[in-house]
Amino acid sequence: MQRHLLRLLISLGILVKFSQSDCNICSSESNVACVSKNQYQNCTANAIPSGAVYTCPNNTYCTGFTEKCTSTEAFASCNDCKKCDGIIPFACTSPTTFALCSAVNEITSYEFSCSTGEVCLLQLGNPCVASPNGTSASCSYFAVIDDLCTQKASTGRYPYPNDSSCLKYVYCFRKGSTWSGSSWQCPSSKPYFSATTSSCVVTKPATCA
Ligand SMILES: *[C@@H]1O[C@H](CO)[C@@H](O)[C@H](O)[C@H]1NC(C)=O
Ligand SMILES: *[C@@H]1O[C@H](CO)[C@@H](O)[C@H](O)[C@H]1NC(C)=O
Ligand SMILES: *[C@@H]1O[C@H](CO)[C@@H](O)[C@H](O)[C@H]1NC(C)=O
Ligand SMILES: *[C@@H]1O[C@H](CO)[C@@H](O)[C@H](O)[C@H]1NC(C)=O
Repeated sequence: MQRHLLRLLISLGILVKFSQSDCNICSSESNVACVSKNQYQNCTANAIPSGAVYTCPNNTYCTGFTEKCTSTEAFASCNDCKKCDGIIPFACTSPTTFALCSAVNEITSYEFSCSTGEVCLLQLGNPCVASPNGTSASCSYFAVIDDLCTQKASTGRYPYPNDSSCLKYVYCFRKGSTWSGSSWQCPSSKPYFSATTSSCVVTKPATCA
C-alpha cells in the first residue's frame, strides 16, 4: 500500500492533491480506510479494511487524515473513480475495470477488465495492479448512491438501493456537472419510504420487509 502511494507521488510529483485521493487503503494516520467519498472501515492488523462501514456526518468527506471525516473537499479521499484527468490516459470505472479516455477527457466506451486478483488504480502506467484482498482500488466498492443518482439524472427522492427495510431513501441533486446524492432516514412519525409516492409514509408498503 505504501508502495503504491510512493509510486503515485513519484510519478506525478504532486504531493498533497494525490496522496489524499487514495481509496480502499488503510491510512497510517487514522487507521481507517476510506471506502467511498463519505464512508470508511476500520483496518485489520495487516492493513486490510474490514468490518462495519461507517458513514461520515452530513456534508463531510472521508479523508486519510487523523480526523477521518473532513468538511474540506480538497482533503477528500476516493476521488479518482471515473475520472479522466488529462494526464493518465484511462479512467477506472469500477474497482476492477477501466476505460480509455478521449482527447477531450471523456470516458470512452472502450472498457476493459483487470485480471482476477488485480484492481484498477489510477496511476501512470498499468491500470491494473495486483492487490491483496482488493485494497487500493480507485473506485469504491460501496458507492451505490452516486451511481444511482448518475443513472436517474434527476433531482428527487428515490428508494435506497437494496434496502428492503424501506427505512432510508436517497435524495439526488445536481452538483456542478455531475449528479450526487445523500442518504436520509425517514422520520419516526413516517418511518417508511414509499417508492410509489416518493415520500415517507406511516404505513409500511407491501413490498418492504
Ligand atoms: C472501529 O474503530 C473504532 C475506534 O478505534 C472503535 O471504536 C470501533 O469499535 C471499531 N469498530 C469495529 C467494528 O471494530
Ligand atoms: C485476505 O483475505 C483472506 C480471507 O478472505 C485472509 O485469509 C487473508 O489473511 C487476507 N490477507 C491479508 C494480507 O490480510
Ligand atoms: C442490489 O440490487 C441490484 C439490482 O437492483 C443487484 O444487481 C445487486 O446485486 C444488489 N446488490 C447487493 C449487494 O445485494
Ligand atoms: C444528517 O442527515 C440526517 C438524515 O440522514 C438528518 O436526520 C440529520 O438531522 C442530519 N444532521 C445534521 C447535523 O444535519
